[in-house]
Amino acid sequence: MKLLSILLLFFTFNSFAADEYSCGSIECDEFKVNISNNADLQNGLSTYMNYCYGCHSLQYSRYKRVADDLEIPIDLYVNNLIYDGSKPGELMKISLSKEDAVNWLGAYPPDLTLEARVRKPEWIYTYLRSYYSDSSRPYGVNNLVYKNVSMPHVLEDLQSSMTENEYNKVISDLTNFLVYVSDPSSRERKQMGVYVLLFLLLFTSFAFLLYREYKKELK
Ligand code: HEC
Repeated sequence: MKLLSILLLFFTFNSFAADEYSCGSIECDEFKVNISNNADLQNGLSTYMNYCYGCHSLQYSRYKRVADDLEIPIDLYVNNLIYDGSKPGELMKISLSKEDAVNWLGAYPPDLTLEARVRKPEWIYTYLRSYYSDSSRPYGVNNLVYKNVSMPHVLEDLQSSMTENEYNKVISDLTNFLVYVSDPSSRERKQMGVYVLLFLLLFTSFAFLLYREYKKELK
């Protein structure tokens, strides 16, 4: 019985794992998460505030926390990235009402604070690079990852004025920013992990020395 449940669990997780890497009608492109570079995350934040924040809130995050974590001087942040007069300590909410959004777009743009955990980072990365023109859709575009999506291709101008590599870098920074914001303390946790391991190493060497002393007396 025990074996059966373990096998069942294994297959359930296995099928979840298989799902994670499919991106709608295509396979997800490979994406390597890297949230250790503040310049990249600042770049992602800037794209987010300019192109996404009009529709998608980050309501579990505060402006000041992001500014502190990404090492952006708070006055620079307030003057350049807060457009609605919010205070730095406030949550990153937007003023778009559900009713207006549904009238204009046909759907309410979801909050994206936890998006990188709900979907995988490779899903976001692939999605934002998979718009194609489709005259049967209201905005003239469709998406390979998210069929008949109600979100317009908001980065169309950017994509058409850049090389493919430049555009991929913009989306990569944006995706990394969304990964950071979905778990802002993960960088500190990893740092702490290193200290804990160093401590254990140090402690083990002292314990070993002590063990040697005790052993001498036993002889
Ligand atoms: C004009 C408003 C608007 C803007 C600007 C916008 N979006 Fe969207 N977005 C939407 C809507 C509406 C949906 C829901 C689509 C649907 O349900 O068909 C959506 C869906 C999404 C989803 C999928 C959510 C899910 O898991 O189902 C992601 C990811 C996303 N947007 C990211 C972004 C990013 C990143 C930007 C900035 C580059 C952006 N959006 C800018 C309106 C917008």
